[in-house]
Amino acid sequence: MSLKNEILFELLNSDDYISGEELAEKYNKSRAGVWKAIKALIRDGYNIEGITNKGYKLIDDRNLVSAQSIKKHLKSDIDVLYYPSVDSTNNLCKRLLADGRKGCFLVVANEQTAGRGRQGKSFYSPADTGIYFSLVTRPNLPLQNAVTATTAAAVCVCKAIETLTDKKPEIKWVNDVFVDGGKICGILTEAITNFEENIVESVIVGIGINVNTSEFPVELTEAGCLNANVNRSELVAKICDELMSVADGDCKGFIDYYRHHSMVLGREIRFIQNGVVTSATAIAIDETGGLEVELKDKSRTVLRSGEISLRFN
Ligand code: BTN
Repeated sequence: MSLKNEILFELLNSDDYISGEELAEKYNKSRAGVWKAIKALIRDGYNIEGITNKGYKLIDDRNLVSAQSIKKHLKSDIDVLYYPSVDSTNNLCKRLLADGRKGCFLVVANEQTAGRGRQGKSFYSPADTGIYFSLVTRPNLPLQNAVTATTAAAVCVCKAIETLTDKKPEIKWVNDVFVDGGKICGILTEAITNFEENIVESVIVGIGINVNTSEFPVELTEAGCLNANVNRSELVAKICDELMSVADGDCKGFIDYYRHHSMVLGREIRFIQNGVVTSATAIAIDETGGLEVELKDKSRTVLRSGEISLRFN
């Protein structure tokens, strides 16, 4: 990270003034270097107050996403780490876990330079207009009990959107969230497993939402944005509180909610298995989030993973 981003990280994660001396010492730079970085941040539009003998403080008057603004809205007691720019919040969580970080925690970024999607795809993550975050929970559950995390995460996102906006989110199996016909949210759930005990020690739920992103690379034909006047920090906090209550075992009614918000039931779909494209009709969502489909010969099968498509072009 550049000194400018290091200092922005410190300011966004602090409720109090931080002295230039402290910053210079921490990053092994001169006071003049710190001042130069502060001036660059001010030029970028950050409202930084500087007070003699106290230091610098970021005045949040731009609806910025920051650790302090997320914590203001968050009910759960978890650590929040905010970064102006990371490769991927999921990757960073894995590195923090590998370094021995304990407890549940949330990593949030203003942009990702190598955001990851499902099935090896990338996730477009430009600065300022979206939210990209990963929540690490410690379910300590057998693998089969933890798979519902994927389905539950889509429910948590929809509930938060319904609480904070007037939008009507829908879920495309397995966990893409659509609003007004466009994909506005992708979810990548990863697990750290103890194979010997068949226990999932940590689950990383990575969520990316296009809040106001209006331009996308041409290949992202399904992409859309939430387009709602919502405080991005409050949205992150609300989703995390929903996820934490699921992690604490409160899964009551979430499959029914998922079914009610499904945009695939009753529709013609296509799925790929072992390289073969098959057409079917989506019939039902089972208790574990599997998609029951009816094939052309009227036989039925349940899809447990993979992707389906609703468009045939
Ligand atoms: C998909 O639509 O295929 C899933 C996209 C998941 C994107 C989120 S953004 C935050 C987290 N970090 C990542 O690298 N990916 C997830």
